[in-house]
Amino acid sequence: MDLKDKILELQRRREIAAKGGGDKAIEKQLSMGKLTARDRINALLDPDSFHEYDLFVQHDAKDFGMDKKELHGDGVIVGTGTINGRPISIFAQDFTVVGGSLGRMHAGKITKIMDHALKMRMPLIGINDSGGARIQEGVNSLAGYGEIFFRNTLASGVIPQISVILGPCAGGAVYSPALTDWVFVVDKISKMFITGPEVIKSVLGEEISQEELGGARVHAEITGNAHFFAHSEQECFEQIKKLLSLIPWNNEEKAPRAVPKPPKAEYDIEKIVPVDPKEPYDVRDVIKAIVDDSDFFEVQELWAANAVIGFGRINGETVGFVANQPLVLAGVLDVDSSDKIARFIRYCDAFNIPIVTLVDLPGYLPGIDQEHMGVIRHGAKILYSYSEATVPKITIILRKAYGGGYIAMGSRHLRSDFVFAWPTAEIAVMGPEGAANIIFKKEISEAPDPEAMRREKVKEYTEKFANPFVAASKGYIDSVIAPFETRKYIAHAIEVSVNKDAGLPRKKHGIPPF
Ligand code: HXC
Repeated sequence: MDLKDKILELQRRREIAAKGGGDKAIEKQLSMGKLTARDRINALLDPDSFHEYDLFVQHDAKDFGMDKKELHGDGVIVGTGTINGRPISIFAQDFTVVGGSLGRMHAGKITKIMDHALKMRMPLIGINDSGGARIQEGVNSLAGYGEIFFRNTLASGVIPQISVILGPCAGGAVYSPALTDWVFVVDKISKMFITGPEVIKSVLGEEISQEELGGARVHAEITGNAHFFAHSEQECFEQIKKLLSLIPWNNEEKAPRAVPKPPKAEYDIEKIVPVDPKEPYDVRDVIKAIVDDSDFFEVQELWAANAVIGFGRINGETVGFVANQPLVLAGVLDVDSSDKIARFIRYCDAFNIPIVTLVDLPGYLPGIDQEHMGVIRHGAKILYSYSEATVPKITIILRKAYGGGYIAMGSRHLRSDFVFAWPTAEIAVMGPEGAANIIFKKEISEAPDPEAMRREKVKEYTEKFANPFVAASKGYIDSVIAPFETRKYIAHAIEVSVNKDAGLPRKKHGIPPF
């Protein structure tokens, strides 16, 4: 054989190996409205940038007829490439090869590319489309998952880890995405559950569809497991590219800078927030009135909507926004919104992204449901995350900042670097009505006209505390600013925080209220 023949032989082997599970299985995959693993990679990465490794890896299982099966690539495609011109590592499970199930060698391909991504300090993207642990391989499959989870944990906070659920992600397989930073789901395609409908039927006798159990909407709206929801695979890939354009490649870098742009004129910051603290508004409009080109990339938009989190740019620099949403439950904090906010703060802190907090909330949600769901433990996560974060922290109080909500939402006391308040801000232990009812209870009940007395006492309390000047007089607020000055103040705060150096006491790690 001369070199030409050897190259032809290589090409022949490549073509066979790249065939996946064969034409019939590929047809089935396409008929389910799904792309093949290879097409997914090509659609997501920059054209011609993908370089594949371990194409010729074969499983080594012998039981249950596996010794007679040749599995092309062992059901997963791995490699490196670029997105927006920057390097990434990727694996994509191939459902056409025994349901993308994970055996020993399949897991070995994934852990090898994970090690590579961590060593090279580049993002890791995992496309999940799999029936879970390969049943024929027994404990070897379980071992493979364990090796993946361990690496997910080591890489956490060092490189961005993205999970894309484009098919089933069943059984223990769900825990790899759960350990990663970002989970993307696509309507009607993504299915994530620990125990599938068949197990539920046999154990509990209940009939339930995969969609109802763990479809994309379930995880985007109810569980909060997903961070981004798309209607098609293509839309999902666009979301991934957008996210990657906003975040740094590893924890020692800063997010890429973009050309600064002013917000769009249609978002007039003076007209968005009603002065009456009881009137709702969409806080996303405030963010759009502040960020470059009014371009706000929201995270977990459909879950715990009483809090808003996401990324935008100010003068070209990426900023993480945390805001109460007066449009939903008056913007109160509850169990889910606490989890949502706390985790996002930790992401921004790990990856050198300044945090801007917009405050307008009546406090934590009262009631037996929340108490029994553990609002004490979940709510504490926000305090922990803000206190621990050492990136620049800038807080703007727009209107209400009552009680625990005032402290939790990036207050000076949790070491925010800059705290500004609009003239409409109200900072108090609770709303004037509730406060007056408690501290003037006797005067009100004993007055000849209790209702008139109540109104008078509410007015008195409002005049005393429902403004930012008491807090400003103590130095808890650095500046009271007009709404139109907000962008300028944030931009300046970021500019003068470039060399921020705020250490934490030496410790192995803290014990957050998980
Ligand atoms: C081996 C598997 C498999 C698996 C699917 N296949 N899952 N082979 N191990 N886990 C094979 C099927 O036998 C079939 O092979 C092919 O993949 C396509 O599967 P279908 O069932 O025909 O596809 P579909 O109807 O679309 O259903 C997809 C599915 C279903 C919902 C994912 O296959 C399913 O329920 N699979 C089992 C899910 C599961 O319980 N996994 C184990 C969880 S335990 P042929 O040859 O017919 O084409 C677990 C523990 C990990 O993961 C613990 C870590 C901590």
